[in-house]
Amino acid sequence: MPTPCALVLRNVSLPEGRVADIGVREGMVVHVGAGEPADCTIDCTCLMVLPAAVDMHVHMRGGAQSAKEDWGSGSRSALAGGVTVVVDQPNTIPPIASPDALRARVFDAKDHSLCNFAINSSVTFDTPVKAMWSAGALAFGETFYAPSSYGEAITKEELAAALRDIHACGALATIHAEEIGPGEDPDIAAHDRIRSGAGEVRAIHDVGRCNAAGCRLHFCHMSTAASVSAAGALGSVEVTPHHLFLSREQFRADDPLGKVNPPLRSEKERRDLWAAWDRIDIIASDHAPHTPVEKQVPFEEAPSGIPGVETMVPLLLAAVLENKISLTDVIRKTSQAPAELLGIPPAGFAPGSRADFALYPKIAAPIDPDTLHSRCGFSPFERLPAVFPRTVILGGDVVLDDGEFFPGSPTWFAGNGYLPR
Ligand code: NCD
Repeated sequence: MPTPCALVLRNVSLPEGRVADIGVREGMVVHVGAGEPADCTIDCTCLMVLPAAVDMHVHMRGGAQSAKEDWGSGSRSALAGGVTVVVDQPNTIPPIASPDALRARVFDAKDHSLCNFAINSSVTFDTPVKAMWSAGALAFGETFYAPSSYGEAITKEELAAALRDIHACGALATIHAEEIGPGEDPDIAAHDRIRSGAGEVRAIHDVGRCNAAGCRLHFCHMSTAASVSAAGALGSVEVTPHHLFLSREQFRADDPLGKVNPPLRSEKERRDLWAAWDRIDIIASDHAPHTPVEKQVPFEEAPSGIPGVETMVPLLLAAVLENKISLTDVIRKTSQAPAELLGIPPAGFAPGSRADFALYPKIAAPIDPDTLHSRCGFSPFERLPAVFPRTVILGGDVVLDDGEFFPGSPTWFAGNGYLPR
């Protein structure tokens, strides 16, 4: 008698078209086929089953910023959007700039996160790169080549030195490439002008010139088709749902809810970005929550940032149901590609894969911010069609079902340089 699987997902439509049962034991996929005995089964007929997403650009906040988000609320928001791995960005208060800060961040996440997580190191003029790598940083950045909310820019010389050190570790540098022009930004059009698409392309080229070392580069939140091309020539390319689904014309001129870096672009540029879909390696949310009170101030005073970890895959799946993009592409860009780039064990349908899945109905509904889980409480994606998961599985355990969360066994994914103390 074979050992029964802990869980079998029955009648799963695999991306290549075949229907199969997926058997899971000890957090891993162990069998793809039919007829495995199981302690627990879930019938997936009529559902879209996806390997759960890795969101490689999430600001989980916490500490002094807990009114915006913390590991508890942020990880619930991730799971409710079919994301089981978040890569936390280091522009916390204080920033993740020392091994002790990184270790404290890992402890906080271990105590409070409901989903898997990894922590990036900040890149400042004095980041102890080698020590951060040994302490378990997954990657370096986002590196602020232009200032943004809670992120101070570094100079070209500092960037070149940091890239040398990061390269020596064999690690990945993730880059926030922008150029800031002169003038004020009293509204969304001015914000787009000052932090322009053309400036973004120039910043990408500048970063390339600073990389004599040949460090592996990843360009965060590319906001135009031209930026996608420029960044793709130098490294991997990330695009956010907000640059794909929102344009500045959809917001009142002085509405800070649409304020983000890089800015929302014009409707034409948004359509052009979709036309570059095949050249986008990774979709990540740049989940950057702020409280409504912080946002309800004059535009130029408001912090930049849009929440999005929960709505990322749901928005993309609505586009799949509209036959705009393929399910295979969504799986590639939200799960396989980020796992490969970062060295995280992949979730998927093959034996040996991490058994993280999200099960979605084949019907879209308008986004209602009141049903989302981020503490910030608002969503600029309100009313757009989206498909939210009915069930989410992490390491073979059901951690979300019909709106109810259950405890699982989340894991910390340390970088390849990690040396336990
Ligand atoms: C981010 C934040 O609020 O942390 N804001 C944003 O507009 N994207 C910082 C950043 O990623 O630039």
